[in-house]
Amino acid sequence: MNMQEKTPDVDSITGLYDSKKAYSSIIAMQKHASNNEFILNNLFSQDDNRLQNFSIHSTNAGMHFDFSKNLIDHATMDIFAKCLKDANIQQYINDMLCGKCINQSEQRPVLHVALRSFHPLIPKNVVNEVNLSLAKMVDFCHVMRANNNITDIIHIGIGGSDLGPKMVYHALEHTYKSKFKVHFLNNIDGAQLEHILDRLEAKNTLIISCSKTFTTLETCANLDACIAWLNLYNISISKHVVAITANVEQAKKYDIEQIFSFEQWVGGRFSLWSSVGLVIMLCYGEQVFKELLAGAAHVDKEFINNDFKQNIPQILAMLGIWYRNVFNLQQYCVSAYAENLHGFTAYLQQLDMESNGKSVGMDNRLLPYHTAPIVFGEVGTHCQHAYFQLLHQGTQSIPVDFITYKHAHHKYARHHDILLQNCFAQAQALMIGQYDNNANLIHIGNRPSNTIILDYINANCIGALLATYEHKIFTQGVFWHINSFDQWGVEFGKKLANQQLELAKRMQT
Ligand code: F6P
Repeated sequence: MNMQEKTPDVDSITGLYDSKKAYSSIIAMQKHASNNEFILNNLFSQDDNRLQNFSIHSTNAGMHFDFSKNLIDHATMDIFAKCLKDANIQQYINDMLCGKCINQSEQRPVLHVALRSFHPLIPKNVVNEVNLSLAKMVDFCHVMRANNNITDIIHIGIGGSDLGPKMVYHALEHTYKSKFKVHFLNNIDGAQLEHILDRLEAKNTLIISCSKTFTTLETCANLDACIAWLNLYNISISKHVVAITANVEQAKKYDIEQIFSFEQWVGGRFSLWSSVGLVIMLCYGEQVFKELLAGAAHVDKEFINNDFKQNIPQILAMLGIWYRNVFNLQQYCVSAYAENLHGFTAYLQQLDMESNGKSVGMDNRLLPYHTAPIVFGEVGTHCQHAYFQLLHQGTQSIPVDFITYKHAHHKYARHHDILLQNCFAQAQALMIGQYDNNANLIHIGNRPSNTIILDYINANCIGALLATYEHKIFTQGVFWHINSFDQWGVEFGKKLANQQLELAKRMQT
């Protein structure tokens, strides 16, 4: 595996001390990697207990994390722990919890953890706001779930106002019976709008317009079209449209009475725990939504309190940095061997790449090291019939997170055994490789992976899984000394689109 060419010494880079700290840590990890040969087959033969030594089980989260198939040893773990200590990870966690504006460029706190966890550092006014918002959701859901006239929900939103709610809705739809059928309207392509409206009765439909800014072009255009559709059938806006937003004044311009607000300290891609998750509570009820929150809260507690070697999100984070910055691997694959998690990677793409796809540090200087990888993946076993050829015999190594679940929520036991055995076999094949005199059959091997096994596909485990990746991304942002909570890179394209729209309008007049 090619190592990144020697990087200049740390004093030659500019920037605040923190970026230099990351740079020094990367150099230390590169030195460790070049002084050791990490051959997985050897690492396992040298340590009969490697699987146990590099696995963590979180009972409350209902999650088992096997990271034994990584190009690391115990000394590597010590270096990882030191790197995070040098990055002041605990201080950044405390800063987040007490509501400091760690989203520097927007001067906002980052408090999605407060939506599901109680911690002494979290400001009391935040806790009160969260409780009030949750109580309003519960009241509305009790009324709506007793209203048998509504059968369908059109959920309008995009990005974090769509991906999280949609992914959780589908993740849970087999385990719990949904009260409503939800149609996620997220694209500006009119084909989607027409496909949805042509199949629904306006009188039986609730429209949720979800948008933190309430100015997103796609969402506004789809809301306008849905309101026109309701008007066509003389259906009351006040009874059939609700808004979820941090921009209440903008929502009021639409004559929408039911407005579920959330605070600016909830980032869009971290917002499903807030009123953005209303559709989940509507479909599955208050108890299931609170179990989702509880699952995340278990992980929050472990992330905040556990030492590095018992800290799943922090280990995941450092492994990602190890492959990105030391082995110079540009992609990261996440394959969930669970059909109900078919929306997970799309959700993770925004969570990871919109958070950490940055090239400027918190000191407003260009970074001297890489940041977020390109995240991709499809559910298993489809992935084996798509891109696993490249993962096994391609010219580059791509780390893989395999995610699956222990107890089936369906009646086909044999199917579940085949699913699990395929998941584990793929990780094994990536690791051990195979030699053959026929060059076409050679599998290079020594390709790293993690395996996360959830106890169930249920609200608690899904909440835990999502919080785990949220904290992974947070931790990587701290190490790379970047702002993981803004997304200025998406504004320029929107501006050009609006300019072209204006130009087109003028040319039509
Ligand atoms: O992709 C850019 C972005 O701002 C995301 O961060 C956000 O989740 C999405 O657009 C939708 O924004 P809003 O919730 O304000 O409609």
